Amino acid sequence: MRRGSIVRLVIYGVLSGIAASLVAVLVPWLPTSASEEMDRIEFTFWFTTVICIAIFAIVAAVSIYSVLKFRAAPEDDTDGPPIHGHTGIEIVWTAVPAVLVTAISVVSAIVLAKNDDLGANPLRISVTAQQFAWRFEYPPSTEGGDDAVTSGELVLPVDRGVRLTLHSLDVIHSFWIPEMGQKSDAVPGIETTLGITPTRMGSYTLLCTELCGPGHSTMRAAVRVVSPQDYEAYLASEREGGGPGGGGGGDDGESVFASAGCGSCHTFEQAGTDAEVGPSLDELAAAAETAGQPLEEFVRESIVDPNKQLAEGYQGDVMPSTYDRSLSEDQLTGLVQYLVDGQANGGQENGG
Ligand code: CUA
Repeated sequence: MRRGSIVRLVIYGVLSGIAASLVAVLVPWLPTSASEEMDRIEFTFWFTTVICIAIFAIVAAVSIYSVLKFRAAPEDDTDGPPIHGHTGIEIVWTAVPAVLVTAISVVSAIVLAKNDDLGANPLRISVTAQQFAWRFEYPPSTEGGDDAVTSGELVLPVDRGVRLTLHSLDVIHSFWIPEMGQKSDAVPGIETTLGITPTRMGSYTLLCTELCGPGHSTMRAAVRVVSPQDYEAYLASEREGGGPGGGGGGDDGESVFASAGCGSCHTFEQAGTDAEVGPSLDELAAAAETAGQPLEEFVRESIVDPNKQLAEGYQGDVMPSTYDRSLSEDQLTGLVQYLVDGQANGGQENGG
């Protein structure tokens, strides 16, 4: 091979490599990391990307060189010379990818193992997914205590390993906070776990990333990473407002409405929600009248047995029928009262 050819190949390769590197670096492909686990995942991505850029540069250089150098004349319809087998090249193109893929899998295995290792004493938070809401249960203040806090918001202390255990009450959901990197399905009947060590205080959003029904795209929850002091203060205030039994998270209808995710699917003026997956909860009074039932009884029945009476224009089996299990009696009563009170308010406003 002539020296000039090698120089041209190198130039094409360097230019292609620079172009690919710019695309990799200048486009913000990944969210800014907010956890130790995401840092490691990003390392894996960059490790793989650098290998890909190198291979791309080599392939692009040879392709560009060949297109320019061996270009056939317009009237040349002859075949190229017959070539069969080249043991040396075959060994190279088998061995090089094998080494690279092995390197990527070794790095990935190390990252997966490290991301699963949260030290001896991680914070344990239980996550319950159901159509179409997330609920979080924080550990009690003393071991075996009965003041565990539940809420519809995930609050995490910064710089502490958190072991999340995921459960689902109905179908498969998937837990993902993009900035934290880690992702796992919540599968009915089994328990899955996920480790996160937040490194950056701020507000994030937990997304469901498994198509789980009509309200899937609304199945989100607020995530806050705060200082350890603010985390303790949050738990203390939730315990205080937790009501009788120290159940935490609140039995009052407003907080049940929020934590059970009602607003993901229903419009309810009092709660400021405007989703339209299910019927509007501002018109419960009229619906109860149509059904010929007392309002309170109608509302309660519609929550625990949503398929019994369907609002016109809405299908059955969309709303989960698990609320008699997932809500306590106090929470259910609070929620019914909240919805009934909302009718009275709405009615007065409309009337006045
Ligand atoms: Cu839950 Cu999608």
